[in-house]
Amino acid sequence: GLSTSAALARRPPFTGAELRSAVPLPPAFQVSLPLPSVLAPVSTSGGADRYEITQREATAEILPGVRTPLWTYEGAFPGPTIESRRGRPITVTHRNELPVPTVVHLHGGRTPAPSDGYPTDLVLPEGWPDAHVTHTGPGGPGHGMHDPQAVLTRLTRDYTFPLDQRPALLWYHDHRMDFTAPAIWRGLAGLHIVRDDAEDSLGLPAGRRELPLMIADRAFAADGSLDYPALDPALRRRPGVREAYLAGVLGDVILVNGAPWPVHEVDAARYRLRILNASNARHYELEAVSDDGRLLDLVQIGADQGLLTAPVTHRLLPIAPAERYDVIIDFKGVPVGSRVRLLNRLGSGRTREVMAFRIARRASDDSRIPRTLSTDLPIWRRSDAVRVRDFSFRAGQMHGGHGWLIGGEPFDPARTDVTTHLGDVEIWRLVADVHHPIHLHLVGFRVLSRSGRPPLPHDAGLKDTVSLRPAESVEIITRFDGYRGRYLFHCHNAEHEDMGMMANIEII
Ligand code: C2O
Ligand code: CU
Repeated sequence: GLSTSAALARRPPFTGAELRSAVPLPPAFQVSLPLPSVLAPVSTSGGADRYEITQREATAEILPGVRTPLWTYEGAFPGPTIESRRGRPITVTHRNELPVPTVVHLHGGRTPAPSDGYPTDLVLPEGWPDAHVTHTGPGGPGHGMHDPQAVLTRLTRDYTFPLDQRPALLWYHDHRMDFTAPAIWRGLAGLHIVRDDAEDSLGLPAGRRELPLMIADRAFAADGSLDYPALDPALRRRPGVREAYLAGVLGDVILVNGAPWPVHEVDAARYRLRILNASNARHYELEAVSDDGRLLDLVQIGADQGLLTAPVTHRLLPIAPAERYDVIIDFKGVPVGSRVRLLNRLGSGRTREVMAFRIARRASDDSRIPRTLSTDLPIWRRSDAVRVRDFSFRAGQMHGGHGWLIGGEPFDPARTDVTTHLGDVEIWRLVADVHHPIHLHLVGFRVLSRSGRPPLPHDAGLKDTVSLRPAESVEIITRFDGYRGRYLFHCHNAEHEDMGMMANIEII
């Protein structure tokens, strides 16, 4: 933990253009923490489950007394949670009743390409012209790329997930080309938890002592809607939008599971917190502080792609957009009636607060944190790699305006950036100008080094998103296995992604 803090203290804090809400905001730690409902399958047959999700507009009371229109999965933000079992395939039929095309991606899923939610594989709403797909996103209205490989469907699409993968917290979200950031901002995100018997038998805190926490910042306009600096001049309602896009869009309200700065009543016992940063652009450094100023240990047991080999203890946990951390916190010893606040050391003012736990009662606790959590973590040695590739993630020119580029190029669905062979192990060296969380579809990877030094404690385990910090270079290693086809890697600052910072991987 201490080495993490020391390393983090050496760099300047993240800054960006933060939108200010135009409605009154509630005090922190008043609204109770919602727990997303778990979706029931509509049928189970032949060892596979089928789910249905309707994407539709809905209105929710996120801030007390304020009605906020949203784009949702099943009327809720976050969308319903899907709980699945390792190796048991599921099909999710998505029905698009929104006014725009959508694409669904299961982030962290080991998914065959046709169901991976490629950004041009649109589900068109009824009445949307099907002749030609023109992208009019933040890259500039009508830059008009056409993807000959795109597979369009109308109204519904079946996404099939084999889920032949390590148990982990995944999430599903919109992935439409050029429009991912505004779509997620308006509410198109939900959780997916993969479980298996081995993990169930570890004795980790479970049931109501396992809490999924989806953290996301938002800003609210005067009419209660979620404010967003659309670049489309027809939708533009505030100056400075280009600046917001350069940094990524930040809000001044911190939501957990869709509630502002919530509070949750807990037993004086261990809890398993499954934390996702679903923010478009905001980075957090989380710490758990008791009312008497004590920092509680955050014992990390898992990363993006499931359990670590052994627990790693942190006092400060940095989390970039799309990253997940699976941590155990022990409220035993915290006085009943007092609170533990989850704070964001990178925030200032209201964005320093995230949520609070109120210790409601003493309770027995038979949970444990085994010293060995898993034994199936892939270990790839440098000598296993058949090639090394270099990628820069930097600002640059795109379609005559500002964009974000990988290796000097903005995203083009028709260009193959990486061709690799099924089963190849590769080392990728990533360098950044500013802070970019880099995500690979299909595969998990290990962090090998940071700017020539060993990885940081929070780099442990199998990752699918790595926080690439300003002026840093990071080496990752992975094996491209699972499926052949066209996949993506991209920055998960959602505005950067929409402004070009994405590229194709072809696995042959
Ligand atoms: Cu979370 Cu390509 O996405
Ligand atoms: Cu970026």
